[in-house]
Amino acid sequence: MSDQHLDRLRAIVGATNVLSGADAAAFESDYRQVFHGRSLCVARPANTHEVSSVMAYCHANGISVVPQGGNTSLLGGSVPDDSGTSVILSLARLKRIRSLDATNATMTVDAGVTLNQARVKAEQAGALFPLRIGSEGSCQIGGNLSTNAGGTAVVRYGNMRDLVLGLEVVLPDGRIWNGLRGLRKDNAGYDLKHLFIGTEGTLGIITAAVLKLFPVPSSVSSAFLGLPTPEAALAVFSLMRRHLGTDVTAFELISSDAMTLVLSHLPNQASPLTDTHPWYVLIETSSNANQADAEAQLLAVLSDAMALGHIDDAVVASNARQAAEFWLIREEISDAQTKARGSVRCDISVPLSSIPQFIRETSAKVLSIAPKARMIVYGHIGDGNVHFNPLRPDDMPAEAFLGIHGAAIAGVIDHAASEMEGSISAEHGIGVAKRDELKVVRSREELEIAWAIKRALDPFNLLNPGKVLPTLSN
Ligand code: FAD
Ligand code: LAC
Ligand code: ZN
Repeated sequence: MSDQHLDRLRAIVGATNVLSGADAAAFESDYRQVFHGRSLCVARPANTHEVSSVMAYCHANGISVVPQGGNTSLLGGSVPDDSGTSVILSLARLKRIRSLDATNATMTVDAGVTLNQARVKAEQAGALFPLRIGSEGSCQIGGNLSTNAGGTAVVRYGNMRDLVLGLEVVLPDGRIWNGLRGLRKDNAGYDLKHLFIGTEGTLGIITAAVLKLFPVPSSVSSAFLGLPTPEAALAVFSLMRRHLGTDVTAFELISSDAMTLVLSHLPNQASPLTDTHPWYVLIETSSNANQADAEAQLLAVLSDAMALGHIDDAVVASNARQAAEFWLIREEISDAQTKARGSVRCDISVPLSSIPQFIRETSAKVLSIAPKARMIVYGHIGDGNVHFNPLRPDDMPAEAFLGIHGAAIAGVIDHAASEMEGSISAEHGIGVAKRDELKVVRSREELEIAWAIKRALDPFNLLNPGKVLPTLSN
């Protein structure tokens, strides 16, 4: 039977675009090699029409489908279970930049275009597509939409949800919904695109999107700060927003343990500051002022903050190369943890005003469980989003640390976020790893609404089953 399915899929996407056995292995684990599964095969359609035919075939034959973009997501949403019965639907061959409308400031792209390719295409047209995440070379626009990706420029430009005007989606039964509208105002009925954004491939396959483009700022400035406390970091953020408004483009916090880890991972990279500090902040501003004026404005705010005792040391990048070095330190923290192995990765958000209390109290609780854990705490503090990722002590193997302490530490962190009216997943989604926790943090009513939408679009639960939605008891 499975040979027959493979033959039918080959007839749709071409023999070389159906992979099975060893050829499918790379698609059956995620980028970090944390989640593993098995598939019936990988199907690699080339366009929307082929996606539709694959979905119609799978729907008619009761075959489950796991959509996969760049496979860089962190909660296992893009990996099949271990039944070996799902088709992994790779969107990687949907690669066309369909059109770019400079006057409308929009670009229509296929779902398999990588984030980096989208950014470069916009740049070539003299525009900016502002989503910025460390995985941009591999992650795809379809994956960014399905996870409602955030990243380091949300303070100014918002999440992926804010950066899209229209979608094309293939429904679980193969029907195609063309919602590729490039309108900034459109209240004609339900705005259906939001059903498919952030739902991690459980309701439909995104095959194309109309993205918003922005003007390229005339100047970009970056500064690296050393600070005593998270309170001080928030005080600087408030000052920056008061004086520079929306020019504040990124505001990223880094703990001293995170800094030590990432610098050991980047042996050719020195700290931008002479001394060590308990906390660091990387700031980026962008504006239409000329570079000299913009830097002078940034420096003025930083010296105010220093006079108020919020900052212990600061360096403003003197050129683009130095700014890129600052950003390398920030962007490599994720891979440094992956390489170090043995970190409990939590992605919480709380109201900005609660961040210092959250960090203080949760650090104390984690250290009472694992006194030598390294506190890799960093992230998008300007959005209230902290990656709170305690890492095994140097002298403890990853398996032992995660086995003995992993669940307790994750429980403490997520519980603290919920208690402070925060979220257990600020930007990485739910996937399979946090699915059952959703039952604890979301009401029965909310989950019943979600299941009602799921059943309406995917009555046989064939699209990315077992992801996001927890099973509800009667
Ligand atoms: P995948 O991992 O392939 O898939 C993600 C989910 O979407 C899965 O559930 C999958 O089934 C579904 N899916 C994929 N494509 C489609 C489609 N076309 N239609 C329907 N469903 C689909 N995330 C952030 O938000 N902010 C960050 O700052 C950030 N930094 C990162 C840094 C590194 C080094 C790494 C490895 C990851 C980072 N991430 C970050 C997480 C990840 O890169 C994002 O979640 C990204 O948006 C995933 O895109 P992807 O194409 O790899 O999706
Ligand atoms: C980051 C990812 C992991 O901000 O979200 O580095
Ligand atoms: Zn992040």
